[in-house]
Order: sequence, then C-alpha cells, then structure tokens
Amino acid sequence: MENLKVVVGSDHGGFEYKEAVINFLKSKNISYIDVGTYSKASCDYPVIAKKAAEKILSGEADRGILICGTGIGMSIAANKIKGIRAALCHDTFSARATRAHNNSNILCLGQRVIGEYLALDIVDMWLKSEFEGGRHQRRVDMLE
Ligand code: RB5
Repeated sequence: MENLKVVVGSDHGGFEYKEAVINFLKSKNISYIDVGTYSKASCDYPVIAKKAAEKILSGEADRGILICGTGIGMSIAANKIKGIRAALCHDTFSARATRAHNNSNILCLGQRVIGEYLALDIVDMWLKSEFEGGRHQRRVDMLE
C-alpha cells in the first residue's frame, strides 16, 4: 500500500478525522493529496466529493478517502460520478470485503458515527486489501 497515492477530503463534519487520516498516511509513507476542507468552517460535502473523484478519474490519485459527519452524504455524492465506487464502511470486515468484491476506489467514513481508532483501523484494512477480480470483475463491469 506504500505505492498508493490517496486523495483525502472532508467537510466540516469530518475535518478532524481527515487530519488523523493524513497523519496515518504520513506514518506509513503513503503519498496523498488533500482536497480540503481546510478548517472547521461549514462547507458543502458534494463539492469536496467531486474534487476527490476528479483526482481519481484523472489518474492523479489511485484511491480516495472521504469523511463527513455520517459518511452518507459523501458516499451519495461520490457514487453519482461515473467510474467511482464509494463504500461507506464502519467495520473492518466491510472494508476488506468491499475492496475484494467491489474494487471500491473511495472509502467513506462518518466522524460522528465511530471512534477515531476504529476509523484508522478501517482505513488500514481498506488500503491494504486487494480486489479479487474473477466473477467480481464481471459484476463491477455491470456497474459501469
Ligand atoms: C454536516 O452537518 C453533515 O450533514 C454532513 O457532514 C454529513 O453528515 C452529511 O451527510
């Protein structure tokens, strides 16, 4: 996972966990792009989700992590963009399974839903888990 480039983004509701995720990525020597938000001032999650998606679709980033209060707004917004498969995960089993089965390219988290240490465990699991391909590739192709 050290070779991945990860785009990270949040609204005000996820700002603190975005900073924690960035510190985690730094500790693992994983390069990242921060598309904001850059303060706790209120902002609109669809704007951030679009910025992150564009980094993935352009190839500037391999995968993304988006955080809002619930993770739901970010996942709805990101999944409206063709080519994005965003997975809202609040447990490590789902984080591994969505990489293996859905080849998810964005992980969404809710800062108001789970604790920071669990969030970082989910990030770790999601980043290191690989897509299994095979029958799952056929289903991912159907999504597109
Ligand atoms: C912001 O208050 C909150 O609505 C947002 O962070 C997110 O939870 C939306 O889904």
